[in-house]
Amino acid sequence: MIYSHQSGRGKPRPYVYMRILGIESSCDDSAAAYLEVAGGKVRRLDYVVATQEIHKKYGGVVPEVAAREHAATVPPLLAALADKVVGRPNGAMLGKRVDLIAVTRGPGLVTSLKVGLDTARALAVAWDKKIIGINHIEGHVYSNWLPAEIGQPLFGTKEKIFPALVLVVSGGHTELLYIKDHCSYKLLGATRDDAAGEAFDKTAKLMGLGYPGGPALSKLAELGDARVYDFPRPMIHDPHFDFSFAGLKTAVRYFLRDNQDKFGDEVFRRNVAAATERAIVDVLVAKTVRAAKEKKVRSIFLAGGVAANSTLRRFLSETIREKLPGTVFVEPLLRYCTDNAAMIAMAAHHRAKKGKFDDWRRMDADPNWELGR
Ligand code: KG4
Ligand code: ZN
Repeated sequence: MIYSHQSGRGKPRPYVYMRILGIESSCDDSAAAYLEVAGGKVRRLDYVVATQEIHKKYGGVVPEVAAREHAATVPPLLAALADKVVGRPNGAMLGKRVDLIAVTRGPGLVTSLKVGLDTARALAVAWDKKIIGINHIEGHVYSNWLPAEIGQPLFGTKEKIFPALVLVVSGGHTELLYIKDHCSYKLLGATRDDAAGEAFDKTAKLMGLGYPGGPALSKLAELGDARVYDFPRPMIHDPHFDFSFAGLKTAVRYFLRDNQDKFGDEVFRRNVAAATERAIVDVLVAKTVRAAKEKKVRSIFLAGGVAANSTLRRFLSETIREKLPGTVFVEPLLRYCTDNAAMIAMAAHHRAKKGKFDDWRRMDADPNWELGR
C-alpha cells in the first residue's frame, strides 16, 4: 500500500495505491476478489463466486452443510482468482500482488464465517500482509462504489454525497442506516421479524417456486397486476423506522389456503406475486423516503440481494425524483447486489484509508455484529 502526495503544480493531492484481496463466506456463497485502486480510480477488479446449490433440496441454508462446502470451495476459488490476476493458479504469485487482505467477520453463520476468516488470517501470517475484518452489511453498502467500467473515478471523490441514507435489503437484513461519512453509521431502524428477502423467499415457497424464490417471485410478478389483491403493508404509517414482514407472509398463506381452487391458474399466481411484491416495495419505499426527509440526506443508496428487484429500483427512484428532488439516488450494479467479495474489498479500501486495520491475532467471527448500533 502506498500513500504519497502527487507532486506537480498546485496543491499536492493525496495519492493512494492499494491492492486488496477480498474474501467472503458469511452465508451460502463463497467469494474472492482482487481490487486495485490507485489515485481514486479502480484500476483492476477480478472476482469469483461459488454459489452453494446443495441447499435448494433442503429449502433453506443448513449451517453445517454450508461450512463444509465453504471449506471445500475456498482454496480452489483462491486458485481460480490467482489464475485471473497473475495468469496462473498460483497462490504465492497472487500473494506478491496483494498489500491488504479484507475478510467478512460478521454478521452471518458463525461456522461459515470462520472458514473465510481463518483462511484470511492464515494468509496474512504466511504472506505477512495487513488485514481488515469487514462487516458484511458495510460490504453491501460499498457495492455502490463498484464501477461499471475500470478507470472511472470512484463515486464521491468529486461530488458531495454525505450525509447519506442506505436501505439494506438482503436475505437476512432489512435496515435503514444513516451514514455521516465513510465508515460512520447510525442504525435508524431494522426489521423486527422477517427480512424483506425472507418475505420474498417465504411467499415464493408457499407458491411452490423453490428456494431462494425471491428472483422467481419477482419474475412471475412482472406479468401480474398488483392492484387485484390488497395485502397488508405492516408498519407503513408508524413514525419509527422499523419494519415487520411476518404478518404479510401469514396473510398470503391464509389467502392461498382459502383460494386453493385457483392455485393452478397462472393469472391468479401472477397477480398474487405482483400484489405481494408491491406490498413489500411500498413499505420499503415509504419508510426510506420519510427517513431521508427527516434526516435531510444528500443521497440515498440501495444495497443487498433484494436491491436486484426491478420494481423496488423503479419505485424508489421515481418516488425520490418526485418527493425529494435534488437528492442523489444510487443503486448497485446488478452483478454486485448479491453476496460477493468485491464489495468486501471496496469497504476495506475505505477503512484502510482511515488507518482502521486489524490484528490477525485478535480477530474472531462475530455472527451478530450490528452496524451502527
Ligand atoms: O444479500 P444476499 O445475497 O444475501 C444475504 O446477505 O442475505 O440476498 C439474498 C436475498 C434472497 O432472499 C433473495 O431471494 C433475494 O435476495 N433476491 C431477490 C431478488 N434477487 C435476490 N428478491 C426479490 N427480487 C429479486 N430480483
Ligand atoms: Zn448479503
